Amino acid sequence: MSYSKKYIESIQNKEQFWEDQANALSWYTKPKTILGKDKYGYPQWFVDGKLNVSYLCIDKHIEDGHGDQDAIIYDSPVTKTKEHISFYKLHQEVSKLAGGLQALGLSKGDTVIIYMPMIPQALYAMLACARLGVIHSVVFGGFAPHELAIRIDDCKPKAIITASNGIEIERIIPYKPFVDEAIALAENKPEHVIVYDRNLGVEIPSKTYDIDYADLVSKSVSIEPIPVESNHPLYILYTSGTTGKPKGIIRDSGGYATALKFSMKHVYGVDEGDVYWAASDVGWVVGHSYIVYGPLLNRNTTVVFEGKPIKTPDASTFWRVISEHKVKVMFTAPTAIRAIKKEDPNGELIKKYDLASLKYQFLAGERCDVSTLRWTEQHLNVPVIDHWWQTESGWPMLANMVGIERLPVKPGSATLPVCGYDIQILNDNGKKVADDVEGFVAVKLPLPPGCLLNLWENPERFKNGYLNRFPGYYFSGDGGYKDEDGYVFITGRVDDIINVAGHRLSTAEMEEVVASHEAVAECAVFGVHCDLKGQKPLGLVVLKSGNSSNSQTISKEIIKDVRHEIGAVASLKDVLVVKRLPKTRSGKILRKLLRNISDDLEYNVPSTIDDVTIISEIEHVYKQNQIGIHKNIINHE
Ligand code: COA
Ligand code: AMP
Repeated sequence: MSYSKKYIESIQNKEQFWEDQANALSWYTKPKTILGKDKYGYPQWFVDGKLNVSYLCIDKHIEDGHGDQDAIIYDSPVTKTKEHISFYKLHQEVSKLAGGLQALGLSKGDTVIIYMPMIPQALYAMLACARLGVIHSVVFGGFAPHELAIRIDDCKPKAIITASNGIEIERIIPYKPFVDEAIALAENKPEHVIVYDRNLGVEIPSKTYDIDYADLVSKSVSIEPIPVESNHPLYILYTSGTTGKPKGIIRDSGGYATALKFSMKHVYGVDEGDVYWAASDVGWVVGHSYIVYGPLLNRNTTVVFEGKPIKTPDASTFWRVISEHKVKVMFTAPTAIRAIKKEDPNGELIKKYDLASLKYQFLAGERCDVSTLRWTEQHLNVPVIDHWWQTESGWPMLANMVGIERLPVKPGSATLPVCGYDIQILNDNGKKVADDVEGFVAVKLPLPPGCLLNLWENPERFKNGYLNRFPGYYFSGDGGYKDEDGYVFITGRVDDIINVAGHRLSTAEMEEVVASHEAVAECAVFGVHCDLKGQKPLGLVVLKSGNSSNSQTISKEIIKDVRHEIGAVASLKDVLVVKRLPKTRSGKILRKLLRNISDDLEYNVPSTIDDVTIISEIEHVYKQNQIGIHKNIINHE
């Protein structure tokens, strides 16, 4: 079948289309109502269906005779460990952990935070929660205790599941001490902290709320999956918004399972039994959808990789994993490829491995620049597919749906809308723009199954942030344009969110921390171009008059504060002291102008600026501090 036929079917006959896809799953109660609405009028899928996602990811495959197949391959260059985990073993681990959680008093509708490195126990924890109808919220390990505390106070978990430690390049990340610090900071104290000791000789501080993971599992009994309603939340995943407070994206169960199963075959082109690898982290949406739930729902073997594209031990790691585990489809962020390309510009390390198993290389998480696309195509010699989506959607919105029909690639475009997404480019007034004209990227409601249900305990923010801007549409927060063939080109965020090494961060949140430094009178944090990470944050600060400390000391303190409050992942390494910031006459800081000057982009000096001479002052500070696109370590071909 052709892409266009399938796509049109999904838009014109959506209920039939998604009912057919839902039939690919084993429901306890098949849904009769395919598309309904919640009390806010927002679409809900399969409301009267009942299922259990943990059952579909594990038990179903055992019942079908595939218990011996590898469900997970854990490959950890940082601990030099490899482990093959069959569906039988996964069942044992998950059902017993679920039994342990139940024995601790956890039941359907409770919340649990999971703060863990990339180890199989993180997946066991997610699947054990799903088995009970307990709503998990995984927090990325790169976030500091303060950020964890914000999430604890928002979703009020009964328990936290964590590990003794994680391992970054040559650095131990003390997960358990971070959890203790976060609990001390939070107002809502969880009853239990379940700690998985990795036995790597790291000291684990002990608290009265601690429960040993291994002990809990060994003493507990296996339990059966509990049927839940289709729109019962499977998880909450916090993501950066345009304010200092992260947003808790709520994901349903039935719509998500249907969409993921569909995407594995039709977007990624994998069949049951194939090995699939998303080199991301379970703390991000890519990890939820394509390390855990998507591949396991589709009975793929998923690779859990605890390492980096470089330095663990070198830039050949990805190729070793592909060849050793016979990966058919791989998914990573362009930034990972740029990191590899910088270390191995001619792809010499790639030649050392047999990559015959690899059929497609998918990229997402940030804009894919043309030179990264070309380099990857040239050296891997397989189709390289850029695709666009976000935490909110939970699965791809734009892609080259290779499982249906592989279309020509246009560099810079993530190709065409995925089945179910009616994507339009709108102007400020909500009217569709002409071809090649840039506008706001919006999706006509209803969104297909799998997308966000709402924001955790914040429906107002949900409506204001996504639905009110263009009535009848979901607003993605991205800008872009369509060409005459309908290919969509995403040009970047139109808000204060930045994308650093494929990690989504809020500059507003960083600004809050910077502004709280005692010497700072006012400040701006915004994203500037970075050849490796795509973007990086830059902070400009104006100091209070009469301040006696030296500017360099203040900059260092601010950088430390941001790392301490938000976490290492914020990657704020440049904070410059300036005399003043460019503003409009009404006092609004011109952040876009500041960014464009740094990125060497064309800019018009707004007529509303209060004083034009500031621009040359800023240019001078950038030059002095080697900030700017022309100063970066560029490795273009
Ligand atoms: N736990 C604790 N700290 C973490 C962490 C984690 N899970 N992940 C990252 N960090 C830390 C890093 O150690 C680094 O600390 P440093 O400033 O002390 O060096 C900091 O957070 C910034 O991390 P990152 O932006 O990832 O930079 P990096 O230099 O460590 O690595 C890349 C650069 C490009 C190799 C890496 O970002 C990468 O592999 N990116 C791919 C991203 C990806 O898969 N994104 C998911 C969407 S698909
Ligand atoms: P996240 O929610 O962390 O997945 O980040 C989503 C954001 O990343 C999107 O809103 C985009 O701004 C950006 N993004 C993701 N994938 C792409 C892509 N293929 N091309 C351009 N931008 C992307």
